[in-house]
Amino acid sequence: MKALVLAGGSGTRLRPITHTSAKQLVPVANKPVLFYGLEAIAAAGIRELGLVVGDTQPEIEAAVGDGSAFGLQVTYLRQKAPLGLAHGVLIAREYLGDDDFVMYLGDNFVVGGINGLVDRFARERPAAQIMLTRVGDPRQFGVAELDAKGRVVGLEEKPAQPKSDLALVGVYLFSSAIHAAVGELKPSWRGELEITDAIQWLIEAGLRVESSVISGYWKDTGNVTDMLEVNRLVLESVEAQVRGQVDETSELVGRVVVERGAVVERSRVVGPAIIGEGARIQDSYVGPFTSIGAGCSVIGSEIEYSIVLPRASIAGVGRIEASLIGHDVEVTPAPNTPRAHRLVLGDHSKVQISS
Ligand code: DAU
Repeated sequence: MKALVLAGGSGTRLRPITHTSAKQLVPVANKPVLFYGLEAIAAAGIRELGLVVGDTQPEIEAAVGDGSAFGLQVTYLRQKAPLGLAHGVLIAREYLGDDDFVMYLGDNFVVGGINGLVDRFARERPAAQIMLTRVGDPRQFGVAELDAKGRVVGLEEKPAQPKSDLALVGVYLFSSAIHAAVGELKPSWRGELEITDAIQWLIEAGLRVESSVISGYWKDTGNVTDMLEVNRLVLESVEAQVRGQVDETSELVGRVVVERGAVVERSRVVGPAIIGEGARIQDSYVGPFTSIGAGCSVIGSEIEYSIVLPRASIAGVGRIEASLIGHDVEVTPAPNTPRAHRLVLGDHSKVQISS
């Protein structure tokens, strides 16, 4: 079995965050979301991986390299434009040959890996196996309709009037039957070759499409609440590890990761939390479920249940909670007079001020 990971896309910036144009590199607990997918694939015993990339190939390639760090052999497959997920399969035709493959969308995060899914596919050998999850707003997803026995009877991509709340998760298993389906597709209303339509084609051709419903799923929809929540979930399973320096007046409580080159001085950090490489925490409190990115500084401040992206600095401010702070952001107190908030907010920023 091979893997096909889709990490292309147009490179439009994500709302409300990321400076980097590759959304697959958005960090969850200080690690790009794409890496969790690659680790899950390697953990399922798969070695050969085709990585579909677009305009952001240089960034993705700089992060993933030849894949050996993950135990994978990566072949980059360049897609000239984001013409759809099924177009990704089309350009990978030669690479995939007639092998079974798992297709994994690089901006998706599945808690618990894919071993069970891959084993089930190997046992049952359907034409396709999909994963579904219940979501609040199915209109932003592919949506499945099931019959009374739980069999998939229809799939629709981003329907205005969804027939269920079961969204397609971005992990699919396919036999080589998918190539005939992809070959028949016409672009959808949004101008893309939809994998959802290809799976629908398999159903209509009478081929077996299996599904399972999972929980513990996240995709970057630009929703901060979800992002904080997935960060929390991942931090729940970190092990305490101190590779940086913690002075004796500081206190680490519970599972705290202090990465190489990070310095914690006169501070209290309550885990689960992660302090990224080269970050500096001084005279501060860092509370549970917080990821402080590489090269950040938190000085004379308090922060909890938040994500701080690399190189941001927070100095001399009271308590920050449930916040997502972007790359290179500076948070400082305002001068005493006049009593005013002074803001330089980037496009699509959101700010809540309590006073
Ligand atoms: O995340 C799950 C959803 O993913 C499913 O519920 C939908 O059925 C499925 O169509 C897909 O929907 P999105 O429209 O949200 O997919 P998106 O454009 O975000 O692309 C998903 C990943 O695939 C992302 O990492 C970018 C990459 N991609 C996307 C396209 C369109 C490519 O590599 N090439 C492409 O042509």
